[in-house]
Amino acid sequence: MDQPAKKTRFLSGVQPSGKLHLGNYFGAIKQHIELQDQGDCFYFIANYHAQTTMRDLAERMSVEQSRKLKAADLLKQHSLDVALDYLALGLDPAKAVFYRQSDVPEVAELTWILSTVTNMGLLERAVSYKEKVDKGIEASVGLFTYPVLMAADILIVRSNVVPVGKDQVQHLEMTADIAGKFNRAFEKDLFPIPTYRLDKESKVPGTDGQKMSKSYGNTIDIFAEGKPLEKTVMAIKTDSTPMGQPLNPESCNVFALFSLFATEAEKATLAEQYRAGTIGFGGAKKMLREKIDAYFAPFRAKRKELATRPDTVEDILRDGARRARIETQKTMEKVHKATGLR
Ligand code: ADP
Ligand code: TRP
Repeated sequence: MDQPAKKTRFLSGVQPSGKLHLGNYFGAIKQHIELQDQGDCFYFIANYHAQTTMRDLAERMSVEQSRKLKAADLLKQHSLDVALDYLALGLDPAKAVFYRQSDVPEVAELTWILSTVTNMGLLERAVSYKEKVDKGIEASVGLFTYPVLMAADILIVRSNVVPVGKDQVQHLEMTADIAGKFNRAFEKDLFPIPTYRLDKESKVPGTDGQKMSKSYGNTIDIFAEGKPLEKTVMAIKTDSTPMGQPLNPESCNVFALFSLFATEAEKATLAEQYRAGTIGFGGAKKMLREKIDAYFAPFRAKRKELATRPDTVEDILRDGARRARIETQKTMEKVHKATGLR
C-alpha cells in the first residue's frame, strides 16, 4: 500500500510588538489562517525575539504617553494581545499548534548549539540588525544573534515552509545556510532545509501612502472601530482634486485599501465612479469604512468575548506548547546524539 503523502509543515512567528494593522492582516495573518487547512501548522508568539526591542519600545511609549511603562508589563500585555488577535481572526487551536516561544525551552537550547556552527560573517551581513541599530536600538548580543534564534524556531519543529513577508527573506536564507552547515558537520539530513513562501499582499499602503507599518505611524488597526476608526480613515492622504472632477483610482490610497475588501465587480463600479467624477474622496472613505466594519465585525465580537476569558487563552497556549514540545524534544534527541552531547 502507498504511504499517505507527508503533509507539508508550515511554521511562522509573530513578534508581540504592538497592535496589529491591515498590513499585517492582508500581508500575513490571513494567509496563516488559510494554511491551517493545507498542512501541519505551527504558529507562535515570538516573545524571546521581542525582548531585543522591548526596552526601547517601552521607553518610546513612555515618552508618548507621559507615563512610565515597564518593558516586562508591555511584553506580557502585547503577548496576550497577539494571542487574542490571532484566535479572534480564525486561528483554530484544533488545527494549528499555537504557542508562546518561551514555553518551549528547547528553542533556547538549540539556539546555542546552532550558534556554534554560525559564522560571524553571516550575521554581520544581516540587514535588519543594521537597520535596528541605526534606529537607535541597543546593539545587544541578542539583537545580533536574532537570526540564530529564528533558525532554531524553524528547524526545531523540522518545518518545510515558512510563510513570511519580504523583510524576513534574508533570515530564511541564513536559516538554510545554518541548517546545511549543521547537517554537513554532524548528520546528513537531520534538518530538512526549509524554504519560504512570500505573502501575497506584499505592500498594503498606510494612511500616508507609504507601506503601512507601526514604525511609520500610518496604520489602520484591525480592531479599531467607531470614532477612532472613522478618524483614521478620514485622515487617509488623497490629492486635492475638487469634488465633481474625475479621480484616478490607480493612484489613490483609499481605492487601494478598498480593493483589499471588495469583489472585482465592486472595484470596477467604484473605479467607474472615480473616473466619471460622480464620487468624491469623502464618499469613497465612507465606503471603505463600511467595508472594514462589515469585514471585521464578527472578529471584533469574538475578540471581545475571548478577552473576558484570559484563562482560556492561557490554556490554549499551554496546550500548544505541550504539543510543540513533542516535536521539539524529538528533534533535540537527534541533535544530542549527533553532536555527542549525550
Ligand atoms: P510592522 O512593519 O508594522 O512593524 P511587522 O514587521 O511586525 O510589521 O510585520 C509582521 C508581518 O506583517 C510580516 O510578515 C510583514 O511582512 C507583514 N506586513 C507588515 N506590514 C505590511 C504591509 N504594509 N503590507 C503587507 N504586509 C505587511
Ligand atoms: N522575525 C520575524 C518578524 O519579525 C518573527 C519570527 C521569529 C519568525 N521567529 C520566526 C517568523 C520564525 C518566521 C519564522 O516578523
